Amino acid sequence: MLLNLTALPGDGVGPEVTDEAVRVLETIADVFGHQLSVTRKPIGGAALISAKDPLPADTLQSCLASGAVLLGAVGGPSFDNFPSHLRPESGLLRLRRELGVFANLRPALCFAALEDCSPLRAEVVRGTDVLIVRELLGGIYFGEPRSTQGIPGNRVAIDTMRYGEAEIERIARVAFELARSRRRKVTSVDKANVLDCSRLWREVVTQVGHQYSDVKLGHMYVDSAAMALVARPVDFDVVLTENMFGDILSDQAGAVVGSLGMLGSASIGGAVGLYEPVHGSAPDIAGQGIANPLGAILSAAMLLRYSFKLETEAACVESAVAAVLASGSRTKDLGRSIWGPPIRWCSPKAGAL
Ligand code: NAD
Ligand code: IPM
Ligand code: MN
Repeated sequence: MLLNLTALPGDGVGPEVTDEAVRVLETIADVFGHQLSVTRKPIGGAALISAKDPLPADTLQSCLASGAVLLGAVGGPSFDNFPSHLRPESGLLRLRRELGVFANLRPALCFAALEDCSPLRAEVVRGTDVLIVRELLGGIYFGEPRSTQGIPGNRVAIDTMRYGEAEIERIARVAFELARSRRRKVTSVDKANVLDCSRLWREVVTQVGHQYSDVKLGHMYVDSAAMALVARPVDFDVVLTENMFGDILSDQAGAVVGSLGMLGSASIGGAVGLYEPVHGSAPDIAGQGIANPLGAILSAAMLLRYSFKLETEAACVESAVAAVLASGSRTKDLGRSIWGPPIRWCSPKAGAL
């Protein structure tokens, strides 16, 4: 089979982890007799520097003409004060929208060899196997109007959370279908005690649930779900949630299973699938060759599974990851005694507004 990919290494650790994932795909292609073709294109900060656009037309065209897209990460402190349409992140959001990938699957699995790497006790994380199904093209990320208006000192900023029934229904179906190939439990996470969007979300998810009577459906408020995810992560199977809640809960799930660097993702449901680790450009460790490449490698496994239907090859990559960890190999993030990113405190001078 021809595996024609566009690779978008991006910024920070993005190129480091993408290179490793491509090496794994090269090996898979060799061993299983596939032909791998990888076209590298700039995105994010790298594209801002080379083309003054975080998603150049040429990059998008290449993605749309590919069988799948493998992305590293975008963003970094040097771009943080750029206007919003020129931020690296806006290139990624545009790419997701152009590809039409509304369903973002973010599995968080506690590998047996990593039980002691979690900040939680081993008996709490043992057996954790959560699949976060995050709606990726709606909610507060894309709702209109959005603006910042007024004069400094008196400005007002507006973002809009918006969901339509059809958008909720299509992502709910993805979650229920996936639950059927797992432990048949869907926990829908919302904030229905406060938000209209969430009340609609809960109603539509419940209706869709009636068509999946073999799948157990539960609802949780997002604050409570955040607590349960660290208190009893093994209780969760599929977590179905909207865009922003899914973003937040998936980083948390990364910490639960030992490191954010372990999480891969698949964004599907559109013209071409997009595969990227859940983590960002990790500017604090970029360029040191110490980034954990497993999130990117597990994303490559999902690429084989979802875009090319190569289940055996995907499972082969996943069992290789488990074997490498079982053999004791570790990147630095898995061997630490202090967990989580350091808080970047403002220095007294910089902090004077
Ligand atoms: P981050 O995910 O880049 O890093 C958070 C912490 O996790 C850091 O301490 C980092 O060192 C660590 N970490 C992340 N990936 C790792 C890996 N593979 N191996 C080892 N440690 C790893 O989040 P941040 O620092 O909040 O964001 C940095 C930049 O990345 C921002 O510009 C943000 O917008 C962007 N970002 C991009 C994506 C993406 O491209 N999909 C995702 C999240 C954040
Ligand atoms: C992620 C990231 C992105 C998001 C940013 C970089 C736009 O945090 O993929 O989790 O919020 O979706
Ligand atoms: Mn995120």
